[in-house]
Amino acid sequence: MEKVSVVRGDITRERTDAIVNAANCSLLGGGGVDGAIHRAAGPRLLEECRTLGGCRTGEAKITRGYDLAAKYVIHTPGPIWRGGNGGEDALLRSCYLSCLRLASENGCRSVAFPSISTGVYHFPLDRAARIAITAIREYLADHSEIDEVRMVCFDPRTEEAYRAALDAAEGK
Ligand code: APR
Repeated sequence: MEKVSVVRGDITRERTDAIVNAANCSLLGGGGVDGAIHRAAGPRLLEECRTLGGCRTGEAKITRGYDLAAKYVIHTPGPIWRGGNGGEDALLRSCYLSCLRLASENGCRSVAFPSISTGVYHFPLDRAARIAITAIREYLADHSEIDEVRMVCFDPRTEEAYRAALDAAEGK
């Protein structure tokens, strides 16, 4: 049974053990999915985030989920696209691996990701989808403790890109 799925939806409504937030390095909220998650989780999320001292690009930090259905929020600042010669690919890959490691360490069996960096941070969508799906599949191959990873896509174009990347990875 494939553990990775691509769905269309609003990540704040996901009932996975953890949802991932495409944050910025301050971890103090913002627009896009970051804003949506903070609005849905309530003010206690920001209160906990204030205690974390920020987060470096490609790394991840975990908080409780508060008013969200998810038990945890895993915050990761993705790379800002600057043309592709500044290590953006490796940093984006690192976001996915850092989040999955934190999920494993905290006993999460299911994780939902948004499309990290492909909004405000302008990372090319198809390229990001390939990096994300590859990283997730590689991690799950060695980590049976995670049963399910869901890519939650907010719009049809994003959904198509991740579905194409998943189909390609599965040799369909
Ligand atoms: N559920 C799922 N995905 C969402 C949601 C949502 N509720 N809202 C937005 N998205 C999608 C966007 O459509 C995009 O596909 O999340 C993806 C990532 O876009 P951004 O939220 O803009 O994140 P990113 O490109 O990583 O930029 C991060 O934006 O919001 C600020 O504080 C954040 O500074 C940081 C920057």
